[in-house]
Amino acid sequence: MNNFIFQNSTKLIFGKNTEDSVGSEIKNYSNKILLHYGGGSIIKTGLYNKITKSLKDSGVEFIELSGVKPNPRVSLVREGIDICRKENIDFILAVGGGSVIDSSKAIAAGVNYAGDVWDLYTGTPINHECLKLATVLTIPAAGSETSSGSVITNEDGLYKRALGYPTLRPQFSILNPELTFTLPKYQTSCGVADMLAHVMERYFTNQTNVDLTDRLCEATMKTIIDNGLRLMKNPNDYDARAEIMLAGTVAHNDSLNMGRDGDWASHDIEHELSGIYDIAHGAGLSIIFPAWMKYVYKNNINRFAQFGNRVFNLDINLNNPEETALHAIEKLEEFFKAMELPIRFKDAKLPEDRIDEMSKKLVHHKDHVGGFLPIREKDALKILKLAL
Ligand code: NZQ
Ligand code: ZN
Repeated sequence: MNNFIFQNSTKLIFGKNTEDSVGSEIKNYSNKILLHYGGGSIIKTGLYNKITKSLKDSGVEFIELSGVKPNPRVSLVREGIDICRKENIDFILAVGGGSVIDSSKAIAAGVNYAGDVWDLYTGTPINHECLKLATVLTIPAAGSETSSGSVITNEDGLYKRALGYPTLRPQFSILNPELTFTLPKYQTSCGVADMLAHVMERYFTNQTNVDLTDRLCEATMKTIIDNGLRLMKNPNDYDARAEIMLAGTVAHNDSLNMGRDGDWASHDIEHELSGIYDIAHGAGLSIIFPAWMKYVYKNNINRFAQFGNRVFNLDINLNNPEETALHAIEKLEEFFKAMELPIRFKDAKLPEDRIDEMSKKLVHHKDHVGGFLPIREKDALKILKLAL
């Protein structure tokens, strides 16, 4: 096991009607905030009215910025930064999913930075104070509600890049599983794929003697798979919604990577896909992850066989563990199909003609991606070909 420091200070407020406490919670930090949200789902569902009432009841003044798109754009981030500067705002409330939260984090990081915020997504380190933020989560998926990361797309060149900084973790996050009943089936499935991928990125490691985190990962993956399938049958199953919402947070709050390094090549490759084609991140992952697995499994066949055995209940073929490893990858594909997700480019109607460009952009300014096995341009191209 590696040495590690674990600190995740986000306060989680979980359960029915918890969004009603948003105003009184914010009052502990600020009297004037930016209320940031997406394309209008929160207005349709009535959440907007509940949130603004709670803010008004607590005497919190708010300025609104809506219009965050899935795969959030840097242009709106720049608008948010201008508003915060002009209005002297020091706190941001994100109401929505990973895109709204990531856009809020980008604004929080950019307000006190003298240059253009995109610099912070392309290697310029943060040496300044970020604004504080909080979230009301409406889709369990990205895990941004407790993560230190933010992923933003620059329309200029269609680059999708990530930034990670400890103080970008939200001060608190409100998670009411009932708020996710209104999710379209496809978005529920994309969220399930993303959180499962967050665990798999951590699970496929070269570290040995990481039994506890292996088992925690396996329990989280089984919970995601079982309850994801339950939601396909009954989207209004509160208990399944609650399990998925908690699993999405646990998958990405860094507890599952204590003492181990993750891989993250599938995420990096996927970001090229959703950056260019604007598809949902989870749908990109259900296409890329199985292909990555097929390319790398020989690096540690036993780990893939263990994954098949403990997550998909396969018997390990002791004479031929490779057979179990390959069977495990098939089971993962079956699961994604049962969630009605694409597992190949053609399932998502994506053209095949930009895979060279994606492979090149992936390693722009770096030698490789991936911790389990280094993935360079030529490897990425082969992985993308396996995904066609
Ligand atoms: O914009 P609105 O109208 O709100 O609609 C959203 C959006 O169209 C809709 N939606 C959300 N909650 C809903 C709802 N519709 C009905 N009822 C509800 N309760 O769902 C759509 C997708 O929302 P989005 O926020 O884009 O989804 P998600 O949470 O999957 O976020 C995806 C983004 O997060 C990034 C991804 O790359 C992608 O850009 N990630 C962020 C990470 C992080 N910060 O740590 C890590 C992840 O690996 C990921 O890369
Ligand atoms: Zn993800």
